[in-house]
Amino acid sequence: MGAAIADGKALASSIEKEVSRGVADLMDSGISPRLAVVIVGEDPASRVYVRNKQRACERCGIKSTLIEMPEASTQEEIIATVEGLNSDASVHGILVQSPIPGDVNELEVASVISPLKDVDGFHPSNLGRLVQGDFSGLLPCTPAGVVRMLEHSGLQLTGAKAAVLGRSRIVGMPMSLMLAGKGVDATVTIVHSRTQDVESICKESDIIIAAIGRPHTIKPDWVKSEAYVVDVGISRMDDGELAGDVDPQVADVACWMTPVPGGVGPVTIAMLMENTLTAARNS
Ligand code: GUN
Repeated sequence: MGAAIADGKALASSIEKEVSRGVADLMDSGISPRLAVVIVGEDPASRVYVRNKQRACERCGIKSTLIEMPEASTQEEIIATVEGLNSDASVHGILVQSPIPGDVNELEVASVISPLKDVDGFHPSNLGRLVQGDFSGLLPCTPAGVVRMLEHSGLQLTGAKAAVLGRSRIVGMPMSLMLAGKGVDATVTIVHSRTQDVESICKESDIIIAAIGRPHTIKPDWVKSEAYVVDVGISRMDDGELAGDVDPQVADVACWMTPVPGGVGPVTIAMLMENTLTAARNS
């Protein structure tokens, strides 16, 4: 039959409309939400991501400030920039675009951002809340976007078997905690580079979330026909095309699938807008 293809752009657009209304209300009460984005170096992909985030801010009526730092910036210089933004009351959300070039420790940088302004949800105290089953704070945007897409699909998540491929600090691990947490109540298997028989785990799963960054890894014969498949990966191929972690032919087999591009990406940015509004409301 072929999978239903999720429309990430349409969902993102409806979330952004809701955020715009919240921003307008907040401005009526004298608060003008502002996101500060720090970008270090010239990585072209990061430049595109940052431009997309700033465009979303414009659509939502959120002010954005871009702080561009040279490639050779030291960790101390980046931390000093973040500390300046922490103490600037006109800034409600701060993010430092990843990857940061050189041997800067990204976790140390994330740890300096005020948890109240941490719109990426990467600060250890915000990530730590997930372990405690507290999902009321600033949630990491990609996992939050994936949960939103699955809920929007109408799938019954309670009791569903989910395989999360990838265990990164900013996607795989928080994704697993959010799916297994109270309220979502899925049963989660975390798959990583040392996992045996990944195919069988996928084949038994109602939900497959691929966040490994290796193009077209998930094959059609790994997927059952009732499966919901979420593709978080996005890689640039030699021919310039964007590719997800999921082989496009999975769409011939699965029940529901997110495309790349136009799937998780736009919803992730919409979650960033929601987080910025939340941070401004809490300021
Ligand atoms: N680089 C790729 N994705 C992200 C993200 O969600 N946040 C930040 N800060 N950098 C990224």
